[in-house]
Amino acid sequence: MPHLLHIECSPRKQRSASIEVARSFIDTWSERHPQGTVDTLDVWSAALPEFDGAALDAKYAGLEGRARSADEARVWADIEALGQRFHRADVIVFSVPMWNFGIPYRLKHLIDAATQKDTLFTFDERGLLGLLGGRTMVVVAARGVALGDDFPAAIYDHQTSYMSMWARMVGITDVHQITVEKTLFGPEADTASRAQAKAQARALAESLPQGT
Ligand SMILES: Cc1cc2nc3c(=O)[nH]c(=O)nc-3n(C[C@H](O)[C@H](O)[C@H](O)COP(=O)(O)O)c2cc1C
Repeated sequence: MPHLLHIECSPRKQRSASIEVARSFIDTWSERHPQGTVDTLDVWSAALPEFDGAALDAKYAGLEGRARSADEARVWADIEALGQRFHRADVIVFSVPMWNFGIPYRLKHLIDAATQKDTLFTFDERGLLGLLGGRTMVVVAARGVALGDDFPAAIYDHQTSYMSMWARMVGITDVHQITVEKTLFGPEADTASRAQAKAQARALAESLPQGT
């Protein structure tokens, strides 16, 4: 049974462009996969494990091959449970607002907590090996304005470039991106941009091989 994980990163909910476009993709995907299941991870309401003292001690225990204390093991179990939500998915959809040319801090928190050696990636002297290979990833990137002349994407896009970096790190090569821009240019531009992106999202869901 195919399984989709939606990582919702906008706190704007009903007004969010990224969530609206992601839902178009998910609705079409669900129509094509009536047996499919959808897990929504809202980074704003999820109890993301703090990645502080105990978690770092637990992480370095793993890196250094040292046994974890009971406290460290407890923290690590929460972190691994988060990683398992990614492993269970065949398709991972991120709805991501651009914040200060980058990603919202709660998404960064999720990524820092979940992206662990032997959970989402591993490495040895030969290099880095992602452990989420074979999955499809869709990034719906919303922006208030459009990157361009004054702010060329090659330098200022720390939103989709960050998500591509993460995909590479965890071994996902089938990555699709849908951009919804100019959401702050008034209702007309916002509506037109959302409509165009939603059409793209539906077409993408229809184009993926059955079972993905
Ligand atoms: C804290 C914050 C920072 C933002 N920074 C940018 C930015 O750097 N570039 C941009 O184009 N829009 C920026 N915006 C506008 C959002 O990207 C825009 O409203 C987008 O539609 C948000 O996605 P959402 O509708 O899914 O929440 C920012 C919005 C907020 C709340």
